[in-house]
Amino acid sequence: MIKIAPSILSADFACLGEEVKKVEDAGADLLHIDVMDGHFVPNLTIGPPVISCLKGRTSLPFDVHLMIENPEKYVDDYINAGAQILTVHIEASVHIHRLLGYIKSKGVTPGVALNPGTPLADLEYILDQAGMILIMSVNPGFGGQTFIPQIKDKIKALKAMLNSMSLDIPIEVDGGINEKNAKEIIEAGADILVAGSAIYNAPDPSKVIRHMKEKNPL
Ligand code: DX5
Ligand code: ZN
Repeated sequence: MIKIAPSILSADFACLGEEVKKVEDAGADLLHIDVMDGHFVPNLTIGPPVISCLKGRTSLPFDVHLMIENPEKYVDDYINAGAQILTVHIEASVHIHRLLGYIKSKGVTPGVALNPGTPLADLEYILDQAGMILIMSVNPGFGGQTFIPQIKDKIKALKAMLNSMSLDIPIEVDGGINEKNAKEIIEAGADILVAGSAIYNAPDPSKVIRHMKEKNPL
């Protein structure tokens, strides 16, 4: 079953509680929370205090995507803020194997994210620690960008790699996903689709989520 994770990056931050409720009521499965530090990516967003405020406002699991340098310094803060899935970029941590193991030891699902230019081979020796793999389909930093078409081949290759190793690790894909391209991304092997602008800018988010899950392109 495909899961949809709306990204609050495209929400109206002046009324974040209601914006979260809106996508929960619309059929979302996870709440994707983009954390940017202005160093790892050229943009700044929110941190642990804002995420903590959302606890109790929704029953959606928090899928926290850290686009920050030195993530090992901050993972405890995000775990305490309520992350149930905590994803760190492979490019941001020298000791990614240890970091994923640490997140797992705290009872949180460790996700590992790959930028579009990062090869799948980098995953080879950390798959034993990964609870989710996030494939970026745009260069991270901003919502509303265009899906990079070559990433479909990367998703297919990752799916084949996991199958050949009999590993059942969910693949999340993030960036530029909408009602039109969701079908082909799911067919390439995605298990979780992140969508920010396609959901939050739509007049009827529930329709977008339903179409994406039903692989029913516009
Ligand atoms: C990009 C973020 C994404 C982004 C997706 O750096 O990680 O989660 O919010 O937004 P859309 O769906 O608009 O590309
Ligand atoms: Zn994201």
